[in-house]
Amino acid sequence: MIDKSSPIPIYYQIEEQIKALIESGKLKSGDCLPSEREYAEKFKVSRMTVRQAINNLVNDGFLYREKGKGTFVAQKKFEQVLHGLTSFTEDMKARGLTPGNRIFSFELLFANELIAKQLDMTVRDPVYQIERIRLADNEPIALETSFISANLIKDLTKEAMHQSLYNYIEEELNLRIDYSTQEIEAAPAGDKEAEALGIKKGTPILKILRKSYLEDGKPFEMVKSAYLADRYKFIATMKRSTK
Ligand code: GLP
Repeated sequence: MIDKSSPIPIYYQIEEQIKALIESGKLKSGDCLPSEREYAEKFKVSRMTVRQAINNLVNDGFLYREKGKGTFVAQKKFEQVLHGLTSFTEDMKARGLTPGNRIFSFELLFANELIAKQLDMTVRDPVYQIERIRLADNEPIALETSFISANLIKDLTKEAMHQSLYNYIEEELNLRIDYSTQEIEAAPAGDKEAEALGIKKGTPILKILRKSYLEDGKPFEMVKSAYLADRYKFIATMKRSTK
């Protein structure tokens, strides 16, 4: 209930109560929230106060509004911790979800200048170019375009890419993946991303560019991914170095 004598602002108390209902599963994604008027009566506060609480929860991504329909509970974001190098398959399994892939294209090409530079190879060296939609419990989460050095990652097959690339590298080829560098930026979805992810063109997405290296320091993949921005949250731990 609301404690009007508390120094904690009332709108904040309402926010916390709604959040607790979401976290406990009493309010599920897609559920429609009671109206501002109903909340105002229930908590015996003004509609303005309720509106402030709901606005904050919308801005924080817990709720979303649909014009003329009401306010609904949003899907929970995937939290991705930015330390430790994991694969998509591992990330989904760790969340108790079933990973899946839809392969758009699988080609063995000659590296162009840009790819050759990125993957430390010569122009016309063989490179796999693979486009996959990555799924979690059959739902599209990301569109991924991978450029993989065919000199390092030999005999890659479509079947292997239907499973896990990292698993193929480590278990089938017995190679060791060492580290990756990753760039993350927000961008509007283009036609291709919109179609693959089932969103409208222009919807914000997170673009991630990962370059990964084998134990001997050679880059084996450059991967461009487009993630649903409203489903992902990246969490980094930052330590201030002591001099
Ligand atoms: C993530 C990375 C990719 C990497 C992939 C491997 O999605 N962004 O750079 O290639 O994981 O995942 P998996 O082993 O499931 O194919």
